[in-house]
Amino acid sequence: MPVHPRHTLTIYLLPALLAHAAATAAEPTYSDILPILQSRCVFCHSGQLPPQDLHLDSLEHLLAGSQNGAIVQAGDPAGSELIKRLKGISQPRMPMSGPPYLSDAQIDLFERWIANGLKPGDAIPAQEPAGFSPAPSPQPGAAVNYSHVAAIFARRCVTCHSQPGILGAPPEGYVLSSYATTLATDERARVVPGSAEASELVRRIRGQARPRMPYDGPPFLDDAEIALIVDWIEQGARDAQGIPARIAHASKVRLHGTLAAGGAGWQLDGLPLEINAATRVDDSPQPGDYVQVRGRLRPDGSLAVERIRAR
Ligand code: HEC
Ligand code: HEC
Repeated sequence: MPVHPRHTLTIYLLPALLAHAAATAAEPTYSDILPILQSRCVFCHSGQLPPQDLHLDSLEHLLAGSQNGAIVQAGDPAGSELIKRLKGISQPRMPMSGPPYLSDAQIDLFERWIANGLKPGDAIPAQEPAGFSPAPSPQPGAAVNYSHVAAIFARRCVTCHSQPGILGAPPEGYVLSSYATTLATDERARVVPGSAEASELVRRIRGQARPRMPYDGPPFLDDAEIALIVDWIEQGARDAQGIPARIAHASKVRLHGTLAAGGAGWQLDGLPLEINAATRVDDSPQPGDYVQVRGRLRPDGSLAVERIRAR
């Protein structure tokens, strides 16, 4: 029986078509990695000042690379800076907010996407994908919790204050990549729940304590960002679930600021300083002087000043 030419064609093409279908199923596209980028990368790599000028909020931006050039080489995952960063072959490892880093399966997805030629995927419209939306800022006076301020720390502080950051060890051993480390008091409290004035973190972002943070500023945080962090601390530094932090009594604090005469004694930028016989005062500081104050938190949250010295 003669075979119809069209059938011959189908018979020849069929294996190839099947092979192609199988490859497509296994071949990740940009649509497959987009959710990972949006949940783990975009909150730092977007906006006005992304690190290394690398925007990861669209395929077009990803392919445009950073100020250093391309971060992906089609067909060459091992030679791609993106993969080196995900695996920690290039430091600092990404995401910079880790650990946790990406799982092996997620990294494998990125590797196969690059190996297979950076396919955009059908699901992706030509225009920008819907970007990552951080927890919306609460209205002034509303309850603030850690999820509202974490994005500011991630974008502007974790670059250095992580283990390791771009400077190596975190400065002063202070890690700002999680709620627990932000509030840690082992060495000293930098956040005193309920008192922005007694929190060195607030003094640093306002520039009352020097050097002002972020250390790579200007730009520093804007007024709205500072107000949000102040509200968060004043309201008790709640965790992401809204549970207020406990004040770690007797934890040490070390503050910097400008001394002023006020009330019965001295103040440090509005924070009353109770000086008593046990307080050690060095270098006879005067109102108007920039000073360092060391002390411990009392059970009621007030500060027992142990030492003041001009800096
Ligand atoms: C907390 C903020 C933060 C997060 C989250 C983050 N990054 Fe980064 N990323 C940075 C910083 C800061 C640098 C610059 C570090 C340096 O100086 O090398 C950087 C650098 C990079 C670079 C190197 C660019 C170059 O050309 O050298 C790549 C690639 C990168 N990030 C990819 C990612 C990916 C992918 C994710 C998500 C899986 C991610 N980053 C998540 C902050 C972040
Ligand atoms: C470019 C690196 C860098 C960035 C970004 C950065 N810091 Fe720092 N941070 C430092 C360095 C360096 C020091 C130590 C400075 C000193 O006191 O000599 C420091 C010190 C601090 C201290 C004092 C810690 C202590 O034990 O008293 C606080 C608080 C702080 N930073 C908070 C922040 C916050 C909040 C941000 C983000 C808004 C931030 N930093 C961003 C580098 C950085």
